[in-house]
Amino acid sequence: MAKTIDPCTLVLFGASGNLSRVKLMPGLFRLDAAGRLPEHMAILSVGRSPVERDAWLADIKGMLDAKFKNGYDQKVFERFVARNHYFANASDDPDAYKKMAATLTDANTFPQNLAYFLSVRPTDFAPVVEQLSGVGLLDESKYWRRVLIEKPFGTDLATAQDLQARLTKHLKETQIYRIDHYLGKTAVQGIMLTRFANAIFEPLWNKDHIDHVQITNNEILGVGERTTFYDATGALRDMFQSHLLQTLALTAMEKPKDLKPESIRAEKIKLLQSIRPIDVKNLNKQAFRAQYAAGRVCVGDGHGENVAGYLDELKRDGIESSNTETYAAVKLFIDNPRWQGVPFYVRTAKRMHEGNVAISVKFKKSPMQLVDSQHQNWLVISIQPKETVKLEIESKIPGLDIATRTLSIDAPQRQTGDESIDSYETLMLNLMEGDPSQYLHISEVEAQWKLVDPIVKAWTADKSALHQYRAGDRDPKESGVIFDAEDQFWRYSIELGGDKH
Ligand SMILES: NC(=O)c1ccc[n+]([C@@H]2O[C@H](COP(=O)([O-])OP(=O)(O)OC[C@H]3O[C@@H](n4cnc5c(N)ncnc54)[C@H](OP(=O)(O)O)[C@@H]3O)[C@@H](O)[C@H]2O)c1
Repeated sequence: MAKTIDPCTLVLFGASGNLSRVKLMPGLFRLDAAGRLPEHMAILSVGRSPVERDAWLADIKGMLDAKFKNGYDQKVFERFVARNHYFANASDDPDAYKKMAATLTDANTFPQNLAYFLSVRPTDFAPVVEQLSGVGLLDESKYWRRVLIEKPFGTDLATAQDLQARLTKHLKETQIYRIDHYLGKTAVQGIMLTRFANAIFEPLWNKDHIDHVQITNNEILGVGERTTFYDATGALRDMFQSHLLQTLALTAMEKPKDLKPESIRAEKIKLLQSIRPIDVKNLNKQAFRAQYAAGRVCVGDGHGENVAGYLDELKRDGIESSNTETYAAVKLFIDNPRWQGVPFYVRTAKRMHEGNVAISVKFKKSPMQLVDSQHQNWLVISIQPKETVKLEIESKIPGLDIATRTLSIDAPQRQTGDESIDSYETLMLNLMEGDPSQYLHISEVEAQWKLVDPIVKAWTADKSALHQYRAGDRDPKESGVIFDAEDQFWRYSIELGGDKH
């Protein structure tokens, strides 16, 4: 059911940047088309260059034309552009924020509840908040004021806490919306419902019935043009620290007492805080890293394409050497009664043979091994490329002999005619609604960095050359070092008869 949104103004910092062009502006347009924006809602785009309003509206039209190749409703377009305004926040003007405050006092044009979306460089998050506070634009005495912080929130625990300290001089926790856009994905939100809306899963969701869980985020893509950014970041910080740990939290948390934002967050925080800290002395048995070498990957139409290795891509851009991982696999344990002793294998990699975001749950062996062909059951919750839930069961092969094969009960989450919503649309709506449940609490961010920091530190200190895997291959065999049992292996494609046995 649609929640009521107060009249408000969305102040979009970095409106001329890449994220805004590709996701935010088209997303706001789609929300408008779906009737989800309140009648009294304005968008004030903030960029650093001076741009006249007409030119900005023409620019917006270009963004929409690029995104919606099949056209869009002209009436909605007229309504949308009427909401849109531009403010030039010149970096060399010491009075720029005073002028912004003066612009925003026009209550007829700009409803006074203000949601700021900071789509700017992470180093600008705190300075923008400090400036907004300096001119009274964060004051909540009459109207609400919320600030959305793009990712990443810090690059380790210390920088995250530093940023937090700077923000909380001017903002209460309830005003801060820390983004992890994975939480806006329909299929990620569906994890909780799959678990708790189906009475058949909850009784099995524990150490007594589950052998292990795999949380996977593999990509066919390499680092592309983002070599400098990626080399300073690596797979652990880019994907694992937030997206994968959040997915793990939703998979493993206890049932919240209700669906209120604070109840869901409380359970996620508890879960993240109960993950056992990494034993750095035995890191080699708990974590594995590697880099992709040259190889051949599958492109959209099923054809192969030869691609360069990571180190060669870095050299092309003037970076001579690197021990940054493009493949990371980590084994985690959760110290609570539900999960004691169950390994959670979390992996993320670039340039793999398939793109795949999934949670794969392997159940324990049936108490009776009736025939040799009998496999363990798997439940695969796939988030990308397909949103689907698959349960694999053993079934008798018809015939004279007693033998089993694996059948799959397949429940595609997406059906013909279903809405397709981009995660940023959901998250922008939640920001305006005042619903922080799909945003990160500072305790979650801290717990995530606490877990990741020791691995990053150990890997940074270890200068030995990284294991190389050929682009387009499956996980390096050597990554199996983190498995607890000989019959554990990486789960691949969600297709029945895939590479799973
Ligand atoms: N792009 C993505 O898909 C993506 C995905 C996840 C997260 N993010 C995060 O989203 C943020 C934006 O990413 P992006 O790719 O859009 O970056 P970008 O293309 O560099 O855009 C940033 C924009 O912010 C503007 N800007 C900087 N300081 C400003 C200020 N004080 N007031 C107003 N505008 C200001 C810049 O204007 P000038 O051109 O005048 O400098 C630029 O247009 C980053 O924090 C990034 O980490 C992006």
